[in-house]
Amino acid sequence: MISLPDFPWDRLTTYKERAEAHPDGIADLSVGTPVDPVPLVAQKALAEAADSPGYPLTYGTPRLREAAAGWLARRHGVRVDAADILPTIGTKELVAWLPTLLGVRPGERVLFPELAYPTYDVGARLAGATPYATDGLLAVGPERVPLVWVNSPSNPTGRVLPAEHLRKVVSWARERGAVVASDECYLELGWEEQPISILHPDVCGGSHEGLLAVHSLSKRSNLAGYRAGFVAGDPALVRRLLEVRKHAGMIMPAPVQAAMAAVLDDDAHADEQRERYARRRAVLRPALERAGWRVEHSTAGLYLWATNDTGCWEQVEALAARGILVAPGDFYGEAGARHVRIAVTATDERVNAAVLRLQ
Ligand SMILES: Cc1ncc(COP(=O)(O)O)c(C=O)c1O
Repeated sequence: MISLPDFPWDRLTTYKERAEAHPDGIADLSVGTPVDPVPLVAQKALAEAADSPGYPLTYGTPRLREAAAGWLARRHGVRVDAADILPTIGTKELVAWLPTLLGVRPGERVLFPELAYPTYDVGARLAGATPYATDGLLAVGPERVPLVWVNSPSNPTGRVLPAEHLRKVVSWARERGAVVASDECYLELGWEEQPISILHPDVCGGSHEGLLAVHSLSKRSNLAGYRAGFVAGDPALVRRLLEVRKHAGMIMPAPVQAAMAAVLDDDAHADEQRERYARRRAVLRPALERAGWRVEHSTAGLYLWATNDTGCWEQVEALAARGILVAPGDFYGEAGARHVRIAVTATDERVNAAVLRLQ
């Protein structure tokens, strides 16, 4: 049996009950799930594609791949051929299965940041490989490394990796033949800093060799419920992923492909959603600071990474007593033991309730 960690959110149950007992109800700032409406442009495209009796293509429709390539060029200055794009059923499944799909072998190490989305670790384990959390690639030594994950803006810290840093990761990986998978699901949510894609010419020098960028529509377009994402980059790697995923039946439903193409073509709804998050962040951050928390990094993305210099579970408890549920930093690695992650994904009404309770 593969050994998997306990599902972290189960450990929050007691605190959730505590927060729910607040007379005015819980302000849930823990999971970070979208709460605003699915954009009409997506709903309409989904409905229009409802009569889809045949099997969809694993590769996705040309329309979907063109829309993804168009979005990368228009919004992120990244040129990718539509042939080098592959839809995924949300991105969590890709993160969890990428080491297996790439043929990472037992005993090899899959690298990811010290503070990270837990699924990088899970993906290494599912392949029988060894998860290795490190922020220092130089400390890895001369062994062969098949896969390195980067995540900018980061979940949980909201930290942005500058182009210079990403360039170093790319050249380190290329020297050793490692694949760099860049999880860019918060790329459009830069606040004080603008994130850059691993596929941007300033980072990769114009060649996508050995590089994969992973994009999700869950947060940009409130499509978490549709399961919509894609991976783009090195043509040979994308072809290999396509081949395995065709055999394995990892196919995005046709109506979701239609909805995803429609949202990738439309920026108005994404700008509107960005504004909502910016507003919530602008009230929550100072409220936390006034209540004795220090916010670190958090220059992009959907989370405030905060500490009041006590243990993370003490902070979870103190906030739950005020009816506010947050995630303990140790869900994301031992280095998070004195931080909490606070999501800005609740409604305006719930965020305002949290702000009042912090006074
Ligand atoms: C860093 C990171 N990667 C991937 C995902 C998966 O997102 P989805 O499966 O909704 O595309 C998340 C979700 O929160 C995330 O925070």
